[in-house]
Amino acid sequence: MLRFLTAGESHGPCLTAIVEGLPAGLSLDEARFNQEMARRQEGFGRGGRMKIERDRAEILSGVRFGQTLGSPVSLRVVNADWVNWETKMAAFGEPAGPAVTAPRPGHADLGGCQKYDRADVRDILERASARETAARVAVGALCRQLLEACGILVASRVVSIGGATETAAQEALIAGAKAAGDTLGGCFEVTATGLMPGLGSHIQWDRRLDGQIAAAIVSIPAIKGVEFGEGFRCGELLGSQVHDEIFYSESRGYYRNTNRAGGIEGGMTNGEPIVLRAVMKPIPTLTRPLHSVDILSQQPVLANSERSDVCAVAAAACVAEAMLCIALSSALLDKFAGDSLPQLLAAIAHYRQNLR
Ligand SMILES: Cc1cc2nc3c(=O)[nH]c(=O)nc-3n(C[C@H](O)[C@H](O)[C@H](O)COP(=O)(O)O)c2cc1C
Repeated sequence: MLRFLTAGESHGPCLTAIVEGLPAGLSLDEARFNQEMARRQEGFGRGGRMKIERDRAEILSGVRFGQTLGSPVSLRVVNADWVNWETKMAAFGEPAGPAVTAPRPGHADLGGCQKYDRADVRDILERASARETAARVAVGALCRQLLEACGILVASRVVSIGGATETAAQEALIAGAKAAGDTLGGCFEVTATGLMPGLGSHIQWDRRLDGQIAAAIVSIPAIKGVEFGEGFRCGELLGSQVHDEIFYSESRGYYRNTNRAGGIEGGMTNGEPIVLRAVMKPIPTLTRPLHSVDILSQQPVLANSERSDVCAVAAAACVAEAMLCIALSSALLDKFAGDSLPQLLAAIAHYRQNLR
């Protein structure tokens, strides 16, 4: 069983994560780790925060001489902005800075204050911020290295932003939205190749891999929908246009000529690539703020405007890769167990041999 938790606030000293269940003997490449962290910071339309941070994940436990030990791996991503924040708070002469009382529509602000009985929206937004996804990308980078050791590769691409599919048109839309004090969302695709059939299971609702992956992807802030393969288009097509016919050859074993299912049937991988698409809503912090209500006076106000991204679809795709790496690692370890990487690889090789 693989599990992880993250902790930390957007402007706290750091984000941390603890990952339990990785097999011992996995060699970790720290440079690759930090490439992943850098990718999450990229993309046209990112805000000022990304110019401040140069994210690096530091491994604090569970690794010795570059190899996992089988014990929990803990990670830390330092927030460079913490120092600026401390200075700013000192300038206000009070530990918490001025309270934020104008909740942003589309954010956790109002519901969080109601639920946790807080009078300062900052108590909520600091944790609700997608800054937390930096810790997920660090965990995903660990899992990616496990998957790659097993021959499984995960990648992503931006499909559209504000409906535009060409880069130049996307950048023009983002620039226009920024000039208007507005924001944009979009759609991205994530794929996994090199998979064996049989990850996940049909036998129980919570063991279905598509359900686990969908939950992992929709758990990313601002992701509002996910589809596998033909996805929502299935509702418009005939069965013969949707289902992937089965073939067999000595060299390939069982295979399909199409992959409309997106690599998952009956809650299990079918050996074809996993192909999923997800949609990200426009960023909810607008520099031309929307109408809101002050939570102290109940008077109409304009929503709080934090320093913010205008569009973060490329970054969200990178986070989705991390979440898919985590979900697939978990499914892989559920099926093949293995306290060490050699045990895991032997179990996978034996299974692949028996498939024919
Ligand atoms: C990579 C990434 C970056 C984001 N950047 C911002 C941002 O700069 N400002 C903002 O208001 N929301 C940003 N968001 C979206 C919010 O975190 C998200 O909309 C909010 O937490 C409310 O959650 P919900 O949209 O899932 O309801 C970002 C999301 C992701 C995945």
